[in-house]
Order: sequence, then C-alpha cells, then structure tokens
Amino acid sequence: MRNDQLNFERIPDIEAYVEYFERYAGSFTDLAVPGDHNCLLKKKHCLRVMELARELAHSEGFDNRLKFLVSLAALFHDLGRFEQYIRYNTFNDRLSVNHARLSVRILHSRRTLFNLSDRDRKIVYLAVLYHNRRSVPAGLSRDLSLISRAVRDADKLDIFPIIITSVSQNTEESNKITLNLDNQNMINPQILDQVKSGQMADYNLMRHKNDFLLLLASWVYDLNYSYSCSRIIDAGYVHTIFEMLPRNREMLGLQNKLLFHLERRATGQNG
Ligand SMILES: [Fe+2]
Repeated sequence: MRNDQLNFERIPDIEAYVEYFERYAGSFTDLAVPGDHNCLLKKKHCLRVMELARELAHSEGFDNRLKFLVSLAALFHDLGRFEQYIRYNTFNDRLSVNHARLSVRILHSRRTLFNLSDRDRKIVYLAVLYHNRRSVPAGLSRDLSLISRAVRDADKLDIFPIIITSVSQNTEESNKITLNLDNQNMINPQILDQVKSGQMADYNLMRHKNDFLLLLASWVYDLNYSYSCSRIIDAGYVHTIFEMLPRNREMLGLQNKLLFHLERRATGQNG
C-alpha cells in the first residue's frame, strides 16, 4: 500500500504506536537511578495526555483522521524527555536541550512515523515541535492548527495536577519537576504583572515555586477549547492554586479574573 493511500483507505491503529512508545520509554525507566520515578512519571504523563487529547478531539467533533493524528502527537509530544533526563538529569530545557525539538529528532531518526503520508507525518512533527512554544505560530493550516492547539491543551490539563502535587510534596524528586525553584513564599513581581495584565507568565522569569503556580494559573489564557476550560473549572485547579499562594485582596482579584475568563471560554465566549 502506498503511504498516501492511508488517508483514504483506513486510519492506522494507535495501539501499535502505544506499544512502541511503552517499549521506548521502558528502556529509559530501566536506566533510572533506583528510587527515581521521574521517567516513569513522564511515561504516564504522555499516556494520559494522549487520552485527554482523544477525549478533547471527541468532544470537539474532530473527524477520525484528526482524532488519530492528535492522539499520535499527544503520545509522542514529550518523547525527548527521557533522553533529556537520563543525559542531563534535569527537565529544565534552558540547562539542557529543547525537549520538543529532541522529540521530533528522535521520531525522525527512528523513522517511527514513516508509514504515514508525508503530509500527516509533518503535521505530527510540527504539533510536537509547537507544544512547548510560548504560543502557536500564526498562519498554520487548519488541520495543524486544530491539532497543535489540542495537544497544548491536553498537555496543560495533565500538568496542572502534577505541578500542584509536586509543589506540595517538596521532595528531592518532586523538586526536579518544579525545576528546583526556591521555596520562599515570594512572587516575582514581573510574573505577577504579566498575569494581572492577562498574559501568560514567562518561564524564564520564574524564581520561586509560587511563580510556577502563577504561571500555571496564567495558562487559562492559553486554553484553546471549551472542553479544556470546563475540565479546569470542574477540577477546581484555580482555587487550589490560589489557596497555595499568599492570600490578599490583590490575589483574590486575580483569582476572580482568571475564573471569569475560564467561565466565559467554557461557554464558548471569547475574551
Ligand atoms: Fe513537553
């Protein structure tokens, strides 16, 4: 069968790719220092993001081809995390490599997606590449835009509880997830200003764990689908985050502003 016939004849089965992923990730979890579960956590994260992306695609009415491609991009979005962690002992891209770019490089060098059409393979590569960018580039094709935005949402949906839990745990292992940011009960004023002005906070400005919590809260400005906004509301993540941050009138106002934005987006209103 020719590659380009896949689009017309059948949608490949995602399960073969899941098995491939589990074998690949398993080879790294075996290499981890005994007692260090971070590679295992990343493996579980990738599988959950795939499930979330699949649910999102279903809820938003994607067709079968787009459902398959979004599941694939979600499954492989963090493939580079394993090599990054084993080689550099960090998930901090600034101190190691851009893990999204590494994921694409691995997929390409291993020819993992070579049974897809050139067009679909490129869509998956680019959706993986764009998942950790500050924003999705303008001018993408409709399919790439839908898929990139879905992967970013699904990734965020799973990261919310991971960061909240890791900040609460404050162990050597969980501190690697929160990039060894300091524990002082402080907030970088630049981060606070960004979130108050309706922007996503800048990773590079994070100094304290509180900054990471605020960055997380600011992600509500970068959710693309009403499905995702509804899930964040239902899980109560914004409340949980603000309970962990200093409590004052300014923070309460910010919490309400973020919740208002989420409610509007969850019901399909913009702004
Ligand atoms: Fe990632």
